[in-house]
Amino acid sequence: MPFVVAIDGPAGTGKGTITKLIAQELGLVNIDTGAIYRCITLKAIRKGINSLEQSEELIQIAKNSSIYVENYTGDQRTFLDGENVTTEIRSKEVSDLVSQISSIPEIREIVVNLSRKIAEGKDVIMEGRDITTVVFPKAQVKIYLDADVEERAKRRFKENQEKGILGSYEEVLENVKTRDYNDMHKKVGALKIAEDAIVVDTTTMTIEEVKQKVKEIILERRK
Ligand code: DC
Repeated sequence: MPFVVAIDGPAGTGKGTITKLIAQELGLVNIDTGAIYRCITLKAIRKGINSLEQSEELIQIAKNSSIYVENYTGDQRTFLDGENVTTEIRSKEVSDLVSQISSIPEIREIVVNLSRKIAEGKDVIMEGRDITTVVFPKAQVKIYLDADVEERAKRRFKENQEKGILGSYEEVLENVKTRDYNDMHKKVGALKIAEDAIVVDTTTMTIEEVKQKVKEIILERRK
C-alpha cells in the first residue's frame, strides 16, 4: 500500500520548504496542491476573468485545462496546458485571487480528484489545506503546520524578495490575513485541524528544527 504523508496548514508555515526537503531525504514524491489552484487562477486572469460572479466560466476552465506536475528531487515543476508556469503561478495577481477561486465547490472537487490521481501508486508527501481532512483522510501521517500570522507574513515576504516578486511587507501581511480568512471560511474544504493530526507550531522554530520534528513523526509511523 502506498505511504501517504498529508500536510495542511495556513500560508507561510513553511509547508512548501519542509515537504521539499523531506521528500528529498526520505525518497517521497512531493506534491504541492496549491499549485493546481494557482494554475486555474492564472488561466482565468489570462482570460480576463477576475470575478467570482463568472463562476461558470471558472468551472469550465478547471474542467478543460491540462494541469500536471513533475517532480525533480523534491522540486515541483507545474505545467498548464503544456506550458511550464512554475514561476508565474507565484505572482501577486495570482496570490490575490487564488483563495477565492479555490472556494468554488465544483473547482475543489476537480482539484481533489486530480490530486488523488497524481498521487496514485506512489509514496507521497502532499501539502495543501484539505489534504488531511478531504483528499487523504486515511493518510498514514497527518500533520498540521502552524505559526503566528506576522511571522508567516515575514517568511512569505522574504521568499518573494528572493524570487524577485514585487510588493511590500504590509501588502504580504494583508494578503496572508485575507487568505487565512478565506481558507478557514470555505463552505467546502475549509482549512481545519483534523482530529487525528499532529500540530506543529513553527513560530519560533528554524526550518531545520521543523524538518527534524516532522521527519521524526514520519519515521515513527513508517516503522
Ligand atoms: O499553498 P498555496 O499558497 O500555494 O495555496 C494557494 C491557495 O490555494 C490558498 O489560498 C489555499 C488554496 N488551497 C486550497 O484551498 N486547498 C489546497 N489543498 C491547497 C491550496
